[in-house]
Amino acid sequence: MKTIIEPFRIKSVEPLRRTTIEERQALLEKAGYNLFLLDAADILIDLLTDSGTSAMSTEQWAAMMRGDESYAGSASYFRLKRVVEDLTGFRHVIPTHQGRAAERILFTVMCRPGHIVPNNTHFDTTRANVEFTGARAEDLVCAAASDTQSRAPFKGDMDVAALERLIETEGHDKIPLVMITVTNNSGGGQPVSMANIEAASAVAHRHGIPFYLDACRFAENAYLIQQREPGYAGCSPKQIAQKMFSLADGCTFSAKKDAFANIGGLLCTNDDRLAAQETNLLILTEGFPTYGGLAGRDLDAIAVGLEEVLHPDYLEYRIVSTAYLGRHIADRGVPIVEPPGGHAIYIDAGRMLPHIPRHEFPAQSLAVELYRHAGIRSVEIGSVMFGEHARNELLRLAIPRRVYTQSHIDYVVEAILEVNARKDSLRGYAIVEEPPFLRHFSCRFRPL
Ligand code: F0G
Repeated sequence: MKTIIEPFRIKSVEPLRRTTIEERQALLEKAGYNLFLLDAADILIDLLTDSGTSAMSTEQWAAMMRGDESYAGSASYFRLKRVVEDLTGFRHVIPTHQGRAAERILFTVMCRPGHIVPNNTHFDTTRANVEFTGARAEDLVCAAASDTQSRAPFKGDMDVAALERLIETEGHDKIPLVMITVTNNSGGGQPVSMANIEAASAVAHRHGIPFYLDACRFAENAYLIQQREPGYAGCSPKQIAQKMFSLADGCTFSAKKDAFANIGGLLCTNDDRLAAQETNLLILTEGFPTYGGLAGRDLDAIAVGLEEVLHPDYLEYRIVSTAYLGRHIADRGVPIVEPPGGHAIYIDAGRMLPHIPRHEFPAQSLAVELYRHAGIRSVEIGSVMFGEHARNELLRLAIPRRVYTQSHIDYVVEAILEVNARKDSLRGYAIVEEPPFLRHFSCRFRPL
């Protein structure tokens, strides 16, 4: 059979609530045209993020009932530790309440003012946590990433020659770690090749620098390596993931992505001395080292999710259904970041709406219009989110795992094509109220 189906059936449903265009216009005005300020109940299809929004499986819910809520040494922790050790090989497995808590602890322990942390592209919380220690976050993504239309297979790769130059000019003692984010979320959800992870790891290690993965979407990255990188077609996603982790000295991980959990994260390392410092900080703000800010039941949900996410049927469905959305809009004239990656489709709004200049936020204009037209929530990844650091004006349609069916995606396709047909009528926005920090969460806009 050629049809690729959702490899699950639905046992429990959540009704969706429809609203009218007039209602949505009023809601937009009330929210200052910032989709973060809408009530979720007023959204029909929510593509704001794939983080914490997955549907859990019956096995995960069953595992939650087995959760051991002991303060110290809970059985849930040891179940999770076994799964993580088998997958990653890391000796120290430190649970945290989500990915950014792992980042904060890692960078607090490793970074000092004047340090530089290279990454293919820092996610916004990763950059903020590096900068909070006084260090500098440096994005070193490969040249292919700058052309959204190129169909190179691994546009998430790090520019390893630039990494080498940075270490030579700045000195290895200024660089406490090198990090690669898989997949490269802020860079359009593009995967990183094994060859690139190997090369970056080798350069870091040659200079005595630890090499880390931001492993949020490790399974999607592993599947895209299997599909796109010569030499890996015969390996399972799990074998590929194991190899990725074997090249690193540690990782941060948000279990809200590729573990299907609604909350949770991990900080892993092979370094005993670092692990001791990290667990001390963990106790200060997250909790005892065998629960780290999570309930025992959350640890069990993550343990089961980490095994389910590597199932080849699931990964095939996941990657094919993301590409389905991408191809159906791109082949009808909507410019997306090519080729489709793992967890999201990114519309290149700068290219789609050339009549709206960057300072009038073309991707925000498109986000507002998609909500007004069809009740779909997406997120701007451009000049609203990154200010003058923005490389492109993108609109991200992130796909929650196992949540929406093909007819939901068909509805999204139809809505985007209808908005695209009258794109010349879209107008820009001005920011009228702005907080000092992380403005995209709460600023208010005015249509121009
Ligand atoms: N690293 C990457 C690459 C991420 O995408 C995220 C979260 C984090 C770290 C932080 O993890 O949310 O558990 O603290 N990304 C979400 C998103 C929020 O919508 O892309 P967290």
